[in-house]
Amino acid sequence: MTDARPTAVVVLAAGEGTRMRSATPKVLHEVAGRSLVGNVLAACAPLGADHTVVVVGAGRDAVTAHLAAIAPAAVPVTQAEQRGTGHAARVALDALGDLDGTVLVLPGDAPLLRTETLHRLVEEHQSGGAVATVLTAVLPDPTGYGRVLRRPDGLVDRIVEHRDATDAEREVAEVNTSVYAFEAGPLRAGLARLSTANAQGEEYLTDVVGAFVAAGRTVGAVVAAAEETAGVNDRVQLAAAHRTHNDRLLLDWMRAGVTVVDPATTWVDAEVELEPDVVLHPGVQLHGRTRVATGAEIGPDSTLTDTVVGAGAHVVRAHCVGARVGAGASVGPFAYLRPGAVLGEKAKVGTYVEVKGSELGPGAKVPHLSYIGDATIGAGSNLGAGTIVANYDGVAKHRTTVGEHVRVGSDTVLVAPVEVGDGAYVAAGSVITGRVGPGELGVARARQRNVPRWVARRRAGTSADKAARKAEEGR
Ligand code: UD1
Ligand code: CA
Repeated sequence: MTDARPTAVVVLAAGEGTRMRSATPKVLHEVAGRSLVGNVLAACAPLGADHTVVVVGAGRDAVTAHLAAIAPAAVPVTQAEQRGTGHAARVALDALGDLDGTVLVLPGDAPLLRTETLHRLVEEHQSGGAVATVLTAVLPDPTGYGRVLRRPDGLVDRIVEHRDATDAEREVAEVNTSVYAFEAGPLRAGLARLSTANAQGEEYLTDVVGAFVAAGRTVGAVVAAAEETAGVNDRVQLAAAHRTHNDRLLLDWMRAGVTVVDPATTWVDAEVELEPDVVLHPGVQLHGRTRVATGAEIGPDSTLTDTVVGAGAHVVRAHCVGARVGAGASVGPFAYLRPGAVLGEKAKVGTYVEVKGSELGPGAKVPHLSYIGDATIGAGSNLGAGTIVANYDGVAKHRTTVGEHVRVGSDTVLVAPVEVGDGAYVAAGSVITGRVGPGELGVARARQRNVPRWVARRRAGTSADKAARKAEEGR
């Protein structure tokens, strides 16, 4: 990239988004784990503008709070009434005050824009010396969009909105994407002179373009790939944008050395990080800031959110949130790792096991049917099938500590707070409420008692009785 750079970025995001039919403001709906406006800001960030302004209106409290969380440097500016894109741009320029240079204007609902395209727009705008440059796209079905009308010499003449266009103008397939590079001074002057004499009674930002040309100034155009410029106005377009964004991310990951067995059923958020030789099996969703190291295999059918997976680990049919899986560790099938689950190197969390707020040391194993909550399990320890850590006394949560190389028998309850020392054993079926010291055997269950001839007396004539008699005769 050259050093072409906008001075300011203005994102128009005050519109209501009526067609979403949602209580959530449109620009907060998500694509690839990022809000629509978050995607636009992410595409702009590498351009290095001095100022970023987001025009907010509909749902502005929610949008402002969101911006503070994801892009604290972006300044929200309120457009109290949505009087059109031109009015929105004016509100933004007023907030920016007296500045020179290029202002990049974008809609908040175009989550597929690429940084390279925006950079190309700014670059061609600046090198061509145009007063404004419009990012356009040629669409198979341009219905609804503003059309870019060109003069016989190919230069931009003006933009006409679909609703204001003649039939002949509606034949034009080149549309305005609502992304523009403007020179700040002329833009400010142009916005001051907008009228509302159009089908929607709004101030159109698009009219600035025609006014520049009418005044004898040059407006440039940069044509972008149609796929990249799609806006989201309803849930159908939201799903389509998500699909397109996901396909693009998967292509990038495959080119970077990740095996994606079934791209159609694999979903990866924008901020996920994968190393070469990761394998993603069908039915995998990777959300948030999930990171997967080389050689790890995820899936089939696994959902990981904000989870870190070490090299060579296997995660099969699992649901993991805020967990860390060590190198070479194994999770699932049918496991649930909740926040604070930390698995050491080569640890194992097996079938129907839930782990929360607990650390498993290297090589520790919880292979079957267990709940491990708020516990520390030392290296090399093995918790038998059906081990439950009872961490909740009905009021408060308590911690459990199991040392290294401990063997806990099946169907054991460790009632927190409790401690089992290094190298200890716990007998199967125990309910452990007190400390078991290092090397001790903890047994906490009723002693076995057999009642002789009980079946003969109480179940005479049953198949059990017959089997028992036969066994006695055979002796
Ligand atoms: C706009 C363009 C149209 C273009 C299309 C591309 C105008 C007049 N028309 O039409 O040429 O083809 O985008 O998608 O600009 N907004 C505000 N405040 C307002 C009005 C809108 O912030 O008062 C924001 C919206 O939140 C949205 C963006 O501006 O992010 C575009 O507004 P929208 O109403 O979607 O414009 P379109 O009718 O789609
Ligand atoms: Ca729109």
